[in-house]
Amino acid sequence: MKKQISRKDFLNKMSVAGAAAFLSPMALHASTWKIKEEKIKVGVIGCGSVSNVYLPHLSKSPHVELVSTCDIKPERAKQQAEKFNIPNHYPHIDQMLAGAPFALMVNLTNMQEHYRLNKQAIQAGKHVWSEKPLANTYQQGAELLKLAKQKGTRLWGAPAVVNSPQFAFMSKAIQEGKLGKVAAAHGHYGHEGPDWSAFFYEELGGSLPDLAVYNLATITGLLGPVKSVVAMLNIITPTRNTGDKGKIKVVAEDNAMVLMEHQSGVLSHVQSGFNYFDPYGHAGTGQERPTISLYGTEGNMHLIGYDWAPSGVDMATKEEVETTRYVTDPGTYVWQEGASVIAKSLVTGEEPLIDVEHSLHVLEIIEAARKSEKTGERIALESKFKWPMIS
Ligand SMILES: NC(=O)c1ccc[n+]([C@@H]2O[C@H](COP(=O)([O-])OP(=O)(O)OC[C@H]3O[C@@H](n4cnc5c(N)ncnc54)[C@H](O)[C@@H]3O)[C@@H](O)[C@H]2O)c1
Repeated sequence: MKKQISRKDFLNKMSVAGAAAFLSPMALHASTWKIKEEKIKVGVIGCGSVSNVYLPHLSKSPHVELVSTCDIKPERAKQQAEKFNIPNHYPHIDQMLAGAPFALMVNLTNMQEHYRLNKQAIQAGKHVWSEKPLANTYQQGAELLKLAKQKGTRLWGAPAVVNSPQFAFMSKAIQEGKLGKVAAAHGHYGHEGPDWSAFFYEELGGSLPDLAVYNLATITGLLGPVKSVVAMLNIITPTRNTGDKGKIKVVAEDNAMVLMEHQSGVLSHVQSGFNYFDPYGHAGTGQERPTISLYGTEGNMHLIGYDWAPSGVDMATKEEVETTRYVTDPGTYVWQEGASVIAKSLVTGEEPLIDVEHSLHVLEIIEAARKSEKTGERIALESKFKWPMIS
């Protein structure tokens, strides 16, 4: 007869990192236990630009033990390991997976590498937090989720926009009917384009997965799943100078207009591009303009600043006609918190707001936009996610 051990005995026998890697997601999230002041072991792959923002956040998290870094440019992995006191660094994912044990892989590599590396990590039994997009196609993303379920691991993808207090305020206002029947929404995000790496402009790069992804996540998060998409995409700047490959031909869209019909009947629009002069710069710091606007029969609402770093919400309704600014305090939210939030979730068993089905839906919209541009057709979507996201 098999020996039965209690959950308490089991946890006493294992480190939390080990337990988190071992328990199925169902077991992990069905549980009522919470473990305080324990950490999950984390490996970070991709030590370029964004790692300079992720690593300070992860290294301050009480739920994270940074175990290893990895980059195919080994000097970058070494440099970040030394800077953030991380004991191991590797030049290849095979070596990282075979090296010092860890439970959560944080993927900060080129967009084109995400699917392959995420798959390899899940196959090795790791949980994954991936920068956007978590795969290059919806089918690939759905395959990763299926694999994660089989392996008993969890998978999540950036962005973390649904965590902002402004998103929560807007979601609540919509659900309370402050806007009446919502009819239309618009989002925009752009700058003059990254100049450090060529992958942003190569096949499967582009402004859709790099920039529009934020507005798509916010607008679908607020207004629910989309049932069909029409889009126009093109290239405004045919060549670019990049830090890693010099002058390159631009292949992926650098100018994109996506029109969506939500299941609720709302029509929304997201524009993004790498050719937008912005006097507030790449980060949009200090801008007072809205970047996301929602219109309904009883009111309208505008998110001030970019949705990944918002600074307030303006709302006017028939009841309170004068536009008032709400939620000017960001609280603890920062866009780079995704991996730390997920690490906390894996340790405490609390389900995060960020939802992989939502990320997959956004990925399907991006793919549908590309298909619509190619065929000139309106593209129907099949994926859904749990909505409203905040109840
Ligand atoms: N830079 C930003 O401000 C920013 C912000 C938010 C999200 N992102 C996202 O983060 C990701 C990375 O962007 P970035 O700007 O840091 O790019 P980057 O080019 O600066 O860094 C990517 C790093 O990944 C490494 N890499 C590539 N393939 C690898 C592999 N197979 N194994 C190990 N390492 C590999 C590269 O050598 C490079 O050091 C992208 O998905 C991007 O959309 C970037």
